Amino acid sequence: MALPSVNPTKTASWKRLEHHFTEAQYLKMKDLFAQDAERANKFTIKWDDFYVDFSKNRITEETFKYLLELADDVKLKEAIESQFSGEKINKTEGRAVLHTALRAPESAVVMVDGENVIPEIYKVKHKIEGFTNEVVNGDRKGYTGKPFTDVVNIGIGGSDLGPAMVVDALQFYKNQLTTHFVSNVDGDHVNEVIKKLNPETTLFVVVSKTFTTQETISNANTIKSWFLKSANEEDIAKHFVAVSTNLDAVSKFGIDTSNIFPMWDWVGGRFSLWSAVGLSISLAVGYNNYASLLEGAHKMDVHFKNEDFKKNIPVVLGLISIWYNNFFDAESEAVIAYSQYLNQFATYLQQGIMESNGKSVDRNGSPIDYQTGTLIWGEPGTNSQHAFFQLIHQGTKLIPADFIGFVESLHGNQDHQDKLTSNFLAQTEALLNGKTKEQVVAEGTSEAIVPFKIFEGNKPTNTIFIKKLTPESLGKLIAMYEHKIFVQGVIWNIFSYDQFGVELGKQLASKILKEFSGEAENEHDNSTFNLLNYYRQNS
Ligand code: F6P
Repeated sequence: MALPSVNPTKTASWKRLEHHFTEAQYLKMKDLFAQDAERANKFTIKWDDFYVDFSKNRITEETFKYLLELADDVKLKEAIESQFSGEKINKTEGRAVLHTALRAPESAVVMVDGENVIPEIYKVKHKIEGFTNEVVNGDRKGYTGKPFTDVVNIGIGGSDLGPAMVVDALQFYKNQLTTHFVSNVDGDHVNEVIKKLNPETTLFVVVSKTFTTQETISNANTIKSWFLKSANEEDIAKHFVAVSTNLDAVSKFGIDTSNIFPMWDWVGGRFSLWSAVGLSISLAVGYNNYASLLEGAHKMDVHFKNEDFKKNIPVVLGLISIWYNNFFDAESEAVIAYSQYLNQFATYLQQGIMESNGKSVDRNGSPIDYQTGTLIWGEPGTNSQHAFFQLIHQGTKLIPADFIGFVESLHGNQDHQDKLTSNFLAQTEALLNGKTKEQVVAEGTSEAIVPFKIFEGNKPTNTIFIKKLTPESLGKLIAMYEHKIFVQGVIWNIFSYDQFGVELGKQLASKILKEFSGEAENEHDNSTFNLLNYYRQNS
């Protein structure tokens, strides 16, 4: 069964929301809180170690009701069922979408093309576990008999961003191995990483679902050549492993077939850290922590699949985001994590969200006349407060924001934790209430300056307060956003799991590359033609 195809703007709930919006756009959240002492409780979901408060949004119970009806009108429940059961909902590529199966228990049964994929998933997991233990314990050694000290993940996009973000986020849980990431085809990237490495003690993990990606293959080749300056061809087997679906291409590259960790076409690149793409995570924090990450994601999967939509975190967050994107015309959303460990979280989400939902054709192949994918951006708090918060507080744009924080710190310094948390709480309060003219005047501000110190407030936020940053809670958090992506894709009636939009630039780049070597001459617009010649003449 394909995903149901419903134009959201033609549903009864959308019409109700449109009508409701004519008044709701003027809602003042401050008034809503004053009118209802129970508002915060009504719009809070407490689940496991997550406390999700979405009361600081420009919604009423009526808004919420219509948004929930929208989820029903677009048949979200059926769509969730289709995804989890392995139906080929990635229709444009003819594939199932089963990152959820990667974190399902060993007893689960998930059928793809008449075959249960769970045993194969666990076969690879056991291989990851065994390999991780050998490397971490020092039983697996480099070509001169020394244990490994460094691991380099060579990949890009989903084969880089997920593992890089998680390894950074779980630094606290790291073992003695140092993990590096090489992604950009800019030679500076690989060059700077190589400078830090000793070939005798470095393990290279080449991660590419297709094993054809220009950046990854170029970086892998450069590293292989550098490695062979000190080692021999037969030493490659000890130092290079690969994660891919393209086993032939990996073998041709020279990697021993026993060093290949397979993945499957039903794992999308940007949802792949749960597969062997997460090998560098397992190596960095140990297999048990990696397994906890997956366990956390699985718990969120169960919540998403079974929980009533009213109390379903990814569904609620997805619906609220639709409210701003499609009714208030908000273009972007900020994700502000009050944890330095989540430094790369917004960057990671950018691929997940924008590569998935940056689409303008619906599931019938027709152009869309409503807004889809949101722009995502963010930096950790408190640094971001001293960078772009001015615009969120007093700029002209509406920027709904997710605030993510942790009750307990990992470092144990309560003074820092209290200061961090006071900022975390203060910012959403300030965004909600703003500061009135009367308050500014009462502070003794001179009359001429008063207008500049007024804060309009009424800026929407969600607060996602989590007990502690652990592999498990991180797994839940990532899965929460993955499911939010799905919810929004279903509502917008788009295919969230292809990414044809990245192809055109790649194709043209390979044509231009051939021009540099004189193998081809192509037609170009004048601007590109001049730039290309400028490069050829000056390089
Ligand atoms: O950017 C496009 C893309 O296909 C991503 O979806 C993917 O994560 C990335 O390239 C890397 O692809 P591969 O793992 O095949 O090298």
